[in-house]
Amino acid sequence: MKLPIHVAIVMDGNGRWARERGKNRIFGHKKGVESVRKIIKHSSNLNIKYLTLFSFSTENWNRPKREVDALMKLFVQLLAKEIPELYKNNVKVIFTGRKTRLSRDLLDKMENAEQVTKHNTGLTLVFAFDYGGRQEIIDTCIEICKKLKSQQLDFLDTEEFSKHLYLPQIPDPDLIIRTSGEFRFSNFLLWEAAYSELYFSDVLWPDYDENEFDKALKNYAERERRFGKVK
Ligand code: FPP
Repeated sequence: MKLPIHVAIVMDGNGRWARERGKNRIFGHKKGVESVRKIIKHSSNLNIKYLTLFSFSTENWNRPKREVDALMKLFVQLLAKEIPELYKNNVKVIFTGRKTRLSRDLLDKMENAEQVTKHNTGLTLVFAFDYGGRQEIIDTCIEICKKLKSQQLDFLDTEEFSKHLYLPQIPDPDLIIRTSGEFRFSNFLLWEAAYSELYFSDVLWPDYDENEFDKALKNYAERERRFGKVK
């Protein structure tokens, strides 16, 4: 089966999953962490090379403070707890997004995760945290303007632009999955998604599992990608 090299996921539906059970949204996020674990492990077993998980967007700061605090805490706990296991499974962990608004504690955990796993050669796991596609494009433009001004750059095309994104070493996603029956990008990988295949699942993220992921992979394998050309 033709596998995507890079899969990116918008993990959506934690809140609705919790509400359906008469619980608060944070309960849904906690359950969502279990799906995160399952999909990382499964991707690693399938030899997928890159997995990007949309974990906290630049707009998620606008949620109630209690929820934002809970998501920050969950992420700190996840990184504190899972890194030894990820290391053992040859997973390399990296992050994309802004670092300026995150707590020292979280930044330390992120740095530690990157440091500990940097020589691993299996799955590269990218957590998009305080990530926004528009912000990434603006930050990229700022970098490029500085280079133009200092005459380190005198030419710009799409290839050159891509070299100044947050993670220029990571190829564009081949497949973007969004769960919970919503059909939006929500500011995820706007530049990188130009030729990604899109797959939407009705399943809410806390119920998302290996089977659902396999359905997306199977569907991807049947698609013909033309990148604007004719076959
Ligand atoms: C969307 O559900 C999910 C998020 C806001 C972020 C994803 C968070 C997790 C999977 C849990 C924590 C994991 C990490 C890696 C920190 P939603 O709240 O938008 O659900 P709704 O659309 O049903 O309200």
